[in-house]
Amino acid sequence: GPVLKAQNEPVLGYAPGSPERAALQRELESQSQSAASIPLVIGGDHIDTRARVDLAAPHDHGHKLATVSQAEGKDIELAIEAAMKARQEWSRWSLQDRSAVFLKAADLLADKYRQRLNAATMLGQSKTAQQAEIDSACELIDFLRFNVQFAQEIAAQQPNSSRGMRNLTDYRPLEGFVYAVTPFNFTAIGGNLATAPALMGNTVIWKPAATAALSNYLFLRLLEEAGLPQGVINFVPGNSSEISARVFGHPDFAGLHFTGSTTVFDELWLKAAQNLKSYKSYPRLVGETGGKDFVLAHASADVEALAVALLRGAFEYQGQKCSAASRAYIPASLWPALRQRLLEDVAGIKMGNVLDLSNFMGAVIDDKAFRRIARYIDLARQGAGARILAGGQADASAGYFVPPTVVQVEDPGHALMQEEIFGPVLSVYVYEDARWADVLRLVDTTSPYALTGAVFARDRQAVQEANGALRHAAGNFYINDKPTGAVVGQQPFGGARRSGTNDKAGSALNLLRWVSPRTVKEAF
Ligand code: SER
Repeated sequence: GPVLKAQNEPVLGYAPGSPERAALQRELESQSQSAASIPLVIGGDHIDTRARVDLAAPHDHGHKLATVSQAEGKDIELAIEAAMKARQEWSRWSLQDRSAVFLKAADLLADKYRQRLNAATMLGQSKTAQQAEIDSACELIDFLRFNVQFAQEIAAQQPNSSRGMRNLTDYRPLEGFVYAVTPFNFTAIGGNLATAPALMGNTVIWKPAATAALSNYLFLRLLEEAGLPQGVINFVPGNSSEISARVFGHPDFAGLHFTGSTTVFDELWLKAAQNLKSYKSYPRLVGETGGKDFVLAHASADVEALAVALLRGAFEYQGQKCSAASRAYIPASLWPALRQRLLEDVAGIKMGNVLDLSNFMGAVIDDKAFRRIARYIDLARQGAGARILAGGQADASAGYFVPPTVVQVEDPGHALMQEEIFGPVLSVYVYEDARWADVLRLVDTTSPYALTGAVFARDRQAVQEANGALRHAAGNFYINDKPTGAVVGQQPFGGARRSGTNDKAGSALNLLRWVSPRTVKEAF
């Protein structure tokens, strides 16, 4: 039949007095009353393990949110068995029937559980109401609906047939199970990494980030309510290396769907390589990893737009996006005006507990993140060639708070211009206007990553030059806009080099990795 075109879910505003704000407040209160207990979910069984860890709100050490069961080796064996058993039926469901489950899940999320997931994302991952709305409501709903559209477009792609012969492409799922390893920073990414392979007929072992277990578990329960059969997605929070050892040691391992750090993706890739000959097929390894995303301004740039892009790109969600603006290249002629505007804006940022809906920033995710970011700030404070212009006073006494920090570097090759910090630290290099061509080269070669990047210029020739010179410097390239906030169905997302395999989340390209097509020719 005809392919249904998906539409982006509208973003609710949460204005004071709005019904969505009242509903959100109620959910925040009810989820704050007592700590949830998060089990493993294996073959549809909800299992509380003896090994558990406590989960506290990042912005309030005293606010215990949940205890999370921890999968051990034997649980992983059971989860793989459950996935392989469920696969027998699920892989034979029609795409239309599988699609119905995920469309139903999108509707449940939009209409019934929106504020529940948003509240869990706010409390567990320290997002503001608006950030949670964009993530655990709109982006997740969009992934579910657009993936169905893309899957149907794929199924409709069929070879030519002719007289006496019919040709067919059978989009089979992979022959085995898929392992989804998902990050804390977007509830939507966790949901997409687990559901995209399932939509294509695969069954999944889902290891969520420990710190996102609350929102991720609520999403899994929603999938169950939408009619996802037992064992199609098995939820196993726990120790990464123990879980990964079991998964990669299993002959039915068929694919990895990963978002996280470059270091961990490398480790998993090497584990797959070590076990390669024990697998039935070459596994699909799909990863979206780190970034060191640039904002490059030309002398013709609009300073106002640039300031907004830097502020939002670098500091929304505490810079904890692989797409976050973290290195800026600013021409000397624009710097005095931009600097003044940027520092004023940064001084006006309100940071604190996300339960106060007027805050623009919450806390960074955990102790490990806090220490890593603090180390980079120390590097700026102590090292030669860097100067802190704003922020810098990280404080973990109440929660893991790192203020928006702006650092100016003298050396464009400084570690702060090369390495991913994954926190609210923006490094700025000011260049002589006449050195535009050199700066294009610097942007392209300074960091090993190539995820997102932005160029600001009113001069069309400068835009063209940047577009050409930086063709491989970013998988998502923005012209006169911030490098964050890709929207499903509008900007397919992903980068190459050390930023991942660039199998564009939110596109048919990603879904094609979860099928192993069979060509069937029938002669008459
Ligand atoms: N997709 C997000 C963005 O574009 C990052 O993961 O900001």
